[in-house]
Amino acid sequence: GLRKDYYQSEDGREDALVMVIHPVQNAIENRRTFAIISHPDAGKTTMTEKLLLFGNAIKLAGAVKSRKTDRHAMSDWMTMEQERGISVTTSVMQFPYRGRTVNLLDTPGHEDFSEDTYRTLTAVDSALMVIDGAKGVEPRTIKLMEVCRLRDTPIITFINKLDREVRDPIEVMDEIEDILQIECAPMNWPIGMGRGLKGIYDLVNDRIIEYRQGQGHHVYEFNVIKGLASDAAKTLLGHDYADVCDEIELVRGASHTFNHEDFLKAGLTPVYFGTALGNFGVQQMLDGFATYAPPPQPRESMERLVDPGEDKFSGFVFKIQANMDPKHRDRIAFLRVCSGRYEQGMKMQHLRLGKSIRITDAVTFMAGDRTHAEEAFAGDIIGLHNHGTIQIGDTFTEGEALKFKGVPNFAPELFRRVRVKDPLRSKQLEKGITQLAEEGASQVFFPLNKNQIVVGAVGVLQFDLVAYRLQDEYRAECIWEDASIAAARWVQCEDEKMLTDFKNKNQENLAIDGGGYLTYLATSRVNLQVVTERWPDVKFTKTREH
Ligand code: G4P
Repeated sequence: GLRKDYYQSEDGREDALVMVIHPVQNAIENRRTFAIISHPDAGKTTMTEKLLLFGNAIKLAGAVKSRKTDRHAMSDWMTMEQERGISVTTSVMQFPYRGRTVNLLDTPGHEDFSEDTYRTLTAVDSALMVIDGAKGVEPRTIKLMEVCRLRDTPIITFINKLDREVRDPIEVMDEIEDILQIECAPMNWPIGMGRGLKGIYDLVNDRIIEYRQGQGHHVYEFNVIKGLASDAAKTLLGHDYADVCDEIELVRGASHTFNHEDFLKAGLTPVYFGTALGNFGVQQMLDGFATYAPPPQPRESMERLVDPGEDKFSGFVFKIQANMDPKHRDRIAFLRVCSGRYEQGMKMQHLRLGKSIRITDAVTFMAGDRTHAEEAFAGDIIGLHNHGTIQIGDTFTEGEALKFKGVPNFAPELFRRVRVKDPLRSKQLEKGITQLAEEGASQVFFPLNKNQIVVGAVGVLQFDLVAYRLQDEYRAECIWEDASIAAARWVQCEDEKMLTDFKNKNQENLAIDGGGYLTYLATSRVNLQVVTERWPDVKFTKTREH
């Protein structure tokens, strides 16, 4: 039917946001699916909490906070499991905001599970980059931006912690432009910082939003001063007035102006300032997000481009999480809906297995609770119960043979050889290792001419997790040994003869990974350099698609 959605804009006007005839189209147009990228401690958790505050999912705030401890290094898997048990309820958070249905995909706080983060980024349409204003661009941010760049994901930037003494905002913006290679378009500009924080100046609408302390825990009315030239502005800024005007003049002249198209192409990021802890500047950013962030985007499959507005359902799995709820001990496969509509009880084709399955108990993550999904649309995430038959990268459709692209494996950086303690359990070990790799818990490599199994990971804790789960789920106690491997690269070569030649000469270093792909395991950085130089026509890649 015909439908009109209204929302209150900041100054109280009622705007009609959409008027579309097709309800499914309407639902899709208003979906916004994103994740937060940041270096640990920049304020991701705090920001998430505030976003949920605006999305009226307040009851979650506590749950988000308690997740914090997973930042601290620990080797005790039991604690880790408990932590993850908590974190799971907040894996995907759906909340309404100004006529939009926003899906915020959470990513693990602990760096050792960053593979999960990388893959989650393949399931979003935009990302919010939170930067600590005092620290600027940090290593994790750089890495995560690299991942976003693989798909040209549009980035919105929030420079945080303005309530503290931070670095010169111009300097921070320069750093973002230099290091992250993306143009910055400030949408607002801080007036003061730390104890002297007075507010932010809205560069687009020429107005000052006044800062008030102690508003961290609720949504509140801001005092808005219209016009930098107004008397109210002069009164607020006092003897700083001239300096502030000069600085804003300078910023306007020296920085990029926002351009929606460039933003959507990931060449430019709108920059917002504020303090997540003080809940200031967050709403302005969120409004910008609701206005500019793209709706669900078309998605490439091997066969064709799939449009979110298509009638038929399709989706792909980007993450599998085990033992999410200690009471259930199940595994949930997270599926991003790419087109059409999911309805409870519908039949889906599991393409890799060529099997039709009826989905009766998919879960959604509305307001953080695992509730049954009645329906879901392109852009939404649903959780499928998984008993070992679903792998990362699997495509589900209503029947059409499709294979979605773009859920990559990233070359692991840590390697260990794994051995079973009790030789009678070696079958179980192999099965367990293979399944855990399919789930994305770690990666596995089988060297060509050695009877060994090598496990690859991005973070050390992944090994603990694998060891624990091998014992717990497969009754195979394992022993880790040094693998003397420094790097892994997937190998491709179009020239069959050359590939055979390459294989013959490099048997010692070659392996097949869990997905059946040829991989070069370098014993050192130098070794890797030498082999890539010696074989210029062989492609060595750091990522490979599922
Ligand atoms: P993360 O998820 O990105 O790792 O960061 P998180 O939100 O946990 O924030 C890290 C620390 O920074 C927390 O302090 C948090 O309170 C603080 N923080 C976040 N945003 C702001 C801000 O806008 N201003 C200021 N001053 N601090 C901010 P903590 O001491 O580690 O934790 P807590 O004991 O305060 O909870």
